[in-house]
Amino acid sequence: MTGAPVAQAVVQAVAALRAGGLVILPTETVYGLAADAGNAQAVARLYEAKGRPRFNPLIAHVADLAAAERVARFDPLSRRLAEAFWPGPLTLVLPARAEGGVGELAQAGLETVAVRAPAHPLAQAVLAGFGGPVVAPSANRSGRPSPTTLADAVEETGAAAAAALDGGPCAVGVESTVVAVLDGAPRLLRPGGLERAAIEALTGPLAEAGSETGRSPGRLALHYAPDAPVRLEAAQPRPGEAWLSFGPAPPGPAPPGCAVWNLSPSGDLREAAANLFAHLRAADRTRPVAIAVAPIPSHGLGEAIDDRLRRAAGYVG
Ligand code: TXA
Ligand code: MG
Repeated sequence: MTGAPVAQAVVQAVAALRAGGLVILPTETVYGLAADAGNAQAVARLYEAKGRPRFNPLIAHVADLAAAERVARFDPLSRRLAEAFWPGPLTLVLPARAEGGVGELAQAGLETVAVRAPAHPLAQAVLAGFGGPVVAPSANRSGRPSPTTLADAVEETGAAAAAALDGGPCAVGVESTVVAVLDGAPRLLRPGGLERAAIEALTGPLAEAGSETGRSPGRLALHYAPDAPVRLEAAQPRPGEAWLSFGPAPPGPAPPGCAVWNLSPSGDLREAAANLFAHLRAADRTRPVAIAVAPIPSHGLGEAIDDRLRRAAGYVG
């Protein structure tokens, strides 16, 4: 989409949100299913469309730090993080403002709120046009891999959406990094599209998720799961498996009947993150006996890739 059709699609998306409808919204991380954060009926429909437990709170998306300050209470550290990394793949969990415009249902009754300013130009245009906070969980059905293309989003939750925007394939490909800044000590609740090292350069070492872990059900095992079982750290595929490789292709051919997807032939973790969910879905569509995944380095974006793969495999993280 370019020019006038884009502007028209954005106007339609904003109108759908105002009317209490759900909108498939591209972000730089993954596609979200968006609703007016202050409209309890819309948010209830959103939980229902995803099949998501109501104790799992949503992220409020805003255009910028000024809008975020109306939703949540920032301290100097959280403000510094927002200034450094927004718009971008960082979500901050902060004390909520009572009149911040995010309803109790979206916050799952907590006194904290997750807030992020996404970088994708279409998300920015919708948020600027709408004016208030928009909740947008990943547009998959609960427990399934996140969609990174419009087609995958429509396949997951399109039936419930009043409008959908095509932003192309998501550049980052894994969800935002979630950091709680509640008592001065920043804690990593979910590794994601912003590398830990970039955050720690500002904050010093991040504490691990403490008691909030139970409050971030995105952190539970068997999340992001395809239908086929997932076998990790696989040196070779076995007959009947689909093969997610990484780095230069091994010299020998794959066993007969093995379909192969390479997350990054050059061994680039950014490319692997961008391909991760689309390749998992493509491999799953061939109905293999299992999806075998090559070892992936754990530095940089490898931390988020490893996290999603372990959850896809059903390991407790
Ligand atoms: O990249 C992303 O963050 C995508 C795009 C669409 O923006 N959204 C996304 O939303 O991944 P969702 O709902 O799938 O994941 C939000 C995560 C969940 O693990 C949730 O439990 C956690 O953030 N979360 C939300 N509010 C929280 C809070 N107040 N305290 C702790 N965790 C919270
Ligand atoms: Mg999700």
